[in-house]
Amino acid sequence: MSLKRIGVLNGPNLNLLGRREPRHYGTQTLAEIEALLLARAGAAGATLIFFQSNDEGEIVDWVQANTDRVDAWLVNAAALTHTSVALRDALAGSARPFVEVHLSNVFAREPFRHTSLLSDLAVGVIAGFRSSSYLFGLEALVEHLGARGEAGADEAE
Ligand code: DQA
Repeated sequence: MSLKRIGVLNGPNLNLLGRREPRHYGTQTLAEIEALLLARAGAAGATLIFFQSNDEGEIVDWVQANTDRVDAWLVNAAALTHTSVALRDALAGSARPFVEVHLSNVFAREPFRHTSLLSDLAVGVIAGFRSSSYLFGLEALVEHLGARGEAGADEAE
């Protein structure tokens, strides 16, 4: 089975994880979360590339520039989840499946966090499990890609 190439995208303020509102986001840094993902990636059947930016335009540029390098995206768009038509369009335009993840349970927080401009395009959404949201998201994404690959193989027979 070939390794699935996953682009892991983190949006604004997630560079401050570890010291940012730990009651919502836990105490692990983004580097620690990325290390957890890397430790899991091989067994999960994935290779990973990472990107974080506080800038919406840079994120759109990164999605465009890396689309041909990935099979799918693992996305915590942070505040852009609730606001960014540009990121929605970039992900849709990439024609790559993605899983949306959140550290916190956005549905147990302010009403403006209950709306996502990404969720209806996502394979699925995982929220509320702190850093484990990313690990569950990675597993789910690879399983989704595998299932899709098998279906394609069946169709080709
Ligand atoms: C977040 C939730 C968003 O509402 C918030 O703007 C974030 C982080 C999360 O991981 O829980 O920055 O995406």
